[in-house]
This record gives sequence, C-alpha cells and structure tokens, in this order.
Amino acid sequence: MRDQVTISLDNIRLDPPVLLAPMAGITDLPFRRMVARFGAGLVVSEMVASGEMLTAKPSVRAKAQAELTAGLPTSVQLAGREAAPMAEAAKIVADMGAEIIDINMGCPAKKVTGGLSGAALMRNPDHALRLIEAVVGAVDLPVTLKMRLGWDTEQLNAAEIAVRAEAAGVKMIVIHGRTRMQFYTGEADWSAIAVVRAAVSVPVVANGDIVDAVSARAALDQSGAAGVMVGRGAQGAPWRLAQIAASLFGKAMPTLPAGSAFSDLISEHYEGILSFYGRDLGLRIARKHLGWYAEAADAPLRAEMMRSTDPAATLALIRSAFSDRDAA
Ligand SMILES: Cc1cc2nc3c(=O)[nH]c(=O)nc-3n(C[C@H](O)[C@H](O)[C@H](O)COP(=O)(O)O)c2cc1C
Repeated sequence: MRDQVTISLDNIRLDPPVLLAPMAGITDLPFRRMVARFGAGLVVSEMVASGEMLTAKPSVRAKAQAELTAGLPTSVQLAGREAAPMAEAAKIVADMGAEIIDINMGCPAKKVTGGLSGAALMRNPDHALRLIEAVVGAVDLPVTLKMRLGWDTEQLNAAEIAVRAEAAGVKMIVIHGRTRMQFYTGEADWSAIAVVRAAVSVPVVANGDIVDAVSARAALDQSGAAGVMVGRGAQGAPWRLAQIAASLFGKAMPTLPAGSAFSDLISEHYEGILSFYGRDLGLRIARKHLGWYAEAADAPLRAEMMRSTDPAATLALIRSAFSDRDAA
C-alpha cells in the first residue's frame, strides 16, 4: 500500500495519483463522467488540434468541454505544431474551464506526426520548447506534457526534453514507455521511465500497458514514478482506475454495479453519448463502448447491440444483455 501519495500541480491535488489517459474518440465528456463517478485523480480530454480549436467549430470545442459532475480535475490536451496557435488555443480552453492544459508530444499517428505534431515534436526539441514556452506563458494554469521515450531507439531523448520542459515551467510529465516507432507494439518499458524520473523534480507519471493493480504496482516499482496513467485498461471498465487506487493508494474499493444496476449504468452512458453528440455520431461512438462492455462482461447480444440503430431497441438489448451480468 502506498497511501497518502498525491501529486500537486500548483493548488490542484491529483489524489489518488491514478490518472485517465487522453484517448481520441474515447475520453469524451460522457466517458470522463463515468470514470469520475467511481474515482480517479484526474481525467484528460481527448486531444484537441490547436488549429481546429481556433476555427470555433462546435464539434471541436465539444472535445474541450471540461465540466464534470464529480468534482475531479480535468485536463484538456492540445496538439499542434506551432507555438502561436497553441498559445491561442490554450487561452480558449482555459476560458472554457480547463484546470490543466496538457501538451501532446506522444501521438504516433502519421496524420499527426506528418503534420509535425504529437511525437514528431520529440525529433525537434528546440522547436518543441518554443511551443511549450508559448503555452506556459499564455495561461495561468498548470501545463503538463505527455510524451514517449523518444522517436526511436536511436533517439531516446525524453529525459533531455523533460529537463528543458521543467525549466520552461511544465508541472508534470507523463511518459508512455514506448518509442514512436513502436506505435502500440511490444511492451511498455517502465524501467526506461526511471531515467526521466531521475532527471527532473516535477512529478513523472508512468503510462503504457497498466491495466490493473498488479501492472500498476510493477510500473511504479520499475519507474519510480509518482503515479500511473491508464488508457485502454479503462475501456469498458470505467471503474478500473478506482480499483487500482484502492489496491495501491488506500482508497475505498469502488462498489461495482451488478445485475440491473450494471445495465442501468451502461444505459446511462449510452444515453449520455447520444445526448452529447446527437443521434448519428452518437450511435457510432456508443457502439465502441457497448462492444467493450459486452466483451469485458462476456455479455450476449453483442452483435445485435452493435447493429442496432434504434435507441429504444438498443436500450432494451442493453437490459437483456447486462441485467444478469456483473461488472468486473
Ligand atoms: C484509441 C486511442 C486514442 C488515443 N488518443 C490519444 C490522444 O488523443 N492523446 C494522447 O496523448 N494519447 C493518446 N493515446 C495514447 C494513450 O493516451 C496512452 O498513452 C496509450 O494508449 C498507452 O497507455 P495504455 O496502455 O494505458 O492504453 C491514444 C491511445 C488510443 C488506444
């Protein structure tokens, strides 16, 4: 047990130090609310492209909508390649209620790195630093950084960038223990995160392949990090972070929904998605989550739920599929 451990970013306490990772298309407001009701130290929005943020498109702004119901701190993640639009976007999301701003320097997608954003910034630390300084200077909020170990094994420069980012005023650094060239293959190298941890005094958080209390403990032991960030392990299991926090940090074990309470929870998430996005986009987004819930609970009617385009019929299917299942 590692109780009484918290991360503080200025006046914001991330307690427990078990944080929800940003995931494009997944960690939207409805999902963050699900995670927040069980408990976590922080939730992070999906990445918002700074250039798009400046266009004021409602669908883009929706990604950065920061309000939550459970009083958890929310960080909004920005992606971009140029300092000025990043600084402008930071001001906008701060005005929209973000409490923390995270800079994406880890996304490996060609669409993003091709535009020299995300992990591509790690190949050009001088440029990345100008961008970081611009964001830190633009807002009166803690700014954090999420990156990988480096671009490839020839260029493991996360520690070097971390030192410079700390000097520029960054308050926390999350490291996904893979290189960009690994994308999501192989295993996250938690011990490599220890090099970054040793180089800076701001909190370093370990990320990658942490899916339960056992992997969280191993990641903390190997990295010496101050906390963990969990992404895919929370898909279909918004209570996962609270379970990890209970096992490692002395928090109360969350009560997991069982039977009809389980189908009620999934119905609520489903309806939350539809009302947040509207019907057409909502149905597409909801399908992913229903698939994960069904897979994790080994629930029947998965194909029917995934096919259904009628919300009332889908809600009936959710009731039939999950009323005799328990969350785990
Ligand atoms: C579908 C998907 C979308 C992601 N979107 C983002 C993103 O918007 N910003 C970001 O920094 N990382 C993003 N990531 C990376 C995750 O935040 C995390 O670093 C990675 O999945 C490793 O953690 P995990 O093994 O706990 O999932 C994404 C990952 C996935 C699988």
